[in-house]
Amino acid sequence: MDIAVIGTGYVGLVTGAGLADFGNDVICVDIDATKIEALKQGKIPIYEPGLDKIVSRNVNEGRLQFSTDLPEAIRSSRAIFIAVGTPPKADGSADLRYVEEVARTIAKYMNGPKLVVTKSTVPIGTGRLIEKILGEAGNGFKATVASNPEFLREGSAIEDFMKPDRVVIGASDRESIDLMKEIYAPLHSLEIPFVVTNVESAELIKYAANAFLATKISFINEIAVLCELLGGDVQDVARGIGLDTRIGPKFLQAGPGFGGSCFPKDTSAVADIARRYGYEFEIIEAVLRVNDNIKQRMVGKVVKGLCGSVQGKTIGILGLAFKPETDDMRDSPTIPLINGLQQQGAKIRAYDPQAMDNASRIFKDVKFCHDAYETADGADALVIATEWNEFRALKLERIRGLLKQPVIVDLRNVYDPQRMKSEGFTYVSVGRGERA
Ligand SMILES: NC(=O)c1ccc[n+]([C@@H]2O[C@H](COP(=O)([O-])OP(=O)(O)OC[C@H]3O[C@@H](n4cnc5c(N)ncnc54)[C@H](O)[C@@H]3O)[C@@H](O)[C@H]2O)c1
Repeated sequence: MDIAVIGTGYVGLVTGAGLADFGNDVICVDIDATKIEALKQGKIPIYEPGLDKIVSRNVNEGRLQFSTDLPEAIRSSRAIFIAVGTPPKADGSADLRYVEEVARTIAKYMNGPKLVVTKSTVPIGTGRLIEKILGEAGNGFKATVASNPEFLREGSAIEDFMKPDRVVIGASDRESIDLMKEIYAPLHSLEIPFVVTNVESAELIKYAANAFLATKISFINEIAVLCELLGGDVQDVARGIGLDTRIGPKFLQAGPGFGGSCFPKDTSAVADIARRYGYEFEIIEAVLRVNDNIKQRMVGKVVKGLCGSVQGKTIGILGLAFKPETDDMRDSPTIPLINGLQQQGAKIRAYDPQAMDNASRIFKDVKFCHDAYETADGADALVIATEWNEFRALKLERIRGLLKQPVIVDLRNVYDPQRMKSEGFTYVSVGRGERA
């Protein structure tokens, strides 16, 4: 099928490459001419493992193209996937301006029947809004709307797209459902479950999934606080509850709070949607409050590691991205951490294997280093903020020799507290027996 994917970011590029790999002819469009030019030259604008291979394979085999010409992409496609950003507004609601702009452009240039698919995460009711915009075009052509939320995780996006736990299709007419099944035909034959429902339910599934996962994270982070108060070990508690198949082991890793481009904005958006309909989604409101508190608590951990003050101290930060295997800095917990430490007078050195370009646009007065050892050199404390694999096997003796004081604050519980003690470190981690 001829498909246009509008918006060539983390989701649009993976979707475009993935749909091309399924055998469709795909044109990926973006208003960012620099991004499209880079892609045309074979350069991938984001860090996502395996993405370069799947993009180049499909470009070479003639199924994947890049363009800034949205009208032409609309005209030449049967299905149009909208994958533009839906960032949060100041009040927590999703900003739909990019989605609406694309819908208006489709309405203006459509030249035959079109299936318009929302891949972006959008508030419940957006499918109907797009339908209305398309209906107002008055050009006699019929466009139908489907919701097809994306569940990929940055860092394993290709695997998640090519072998998802499920494909959700929200549509109200048979033809749209059949077209969507045709587009995803290889997944159908792999017996991946398809959840076919109406547009509103599909839109809500995406928010409900992220809200539920965020709830698990805030829950275990509060258990970590209790462990610190009571002398427990959150790792053992997580394992103890996670082995219960009704609970499951995933998303029970205590840490510095959830971040990234999805959980904070989607939980805020679902709370906002509920409020607009006169309902207070109390669990989610609490999840958001807990997450903010947990992020602030992390600053306190570094202060505690340095006996009550970071004023004039140099702190080395290992990892800046919101999680490993991505360069995405959106809503990373390292942002409030570094800002909080700087406000208390600390000097910051930092290293991340992939996110330093993006981080350099966010932070002021941070010295970016080439590796973990340069970061530790002369620092009063070293903070493990993102659990990249290369921080899991640090040469601890070398680190101890480089640090001014042997203080490690491990916000990802990468190391064993006993071992760190025996290696001569003052070691602070999350929810592991150290009384707050
Ligand atoms: N990043 C994730 O892990 C993830 C996962 C699932 C769902 N989502 C959702 O997918 C959507 C996209 O997220 P993302 O992370 O890919 O965002 P992104 O910011 O990386 O990409 C969005 C792209 O859309 C482009 N764009 C904006 N307006 C445009 C227009 N009028 N025409 C063409 N291109 C336009 C931007 O230039 C940008 O390249 C969001 O709704 C997000 O919530 C993201």
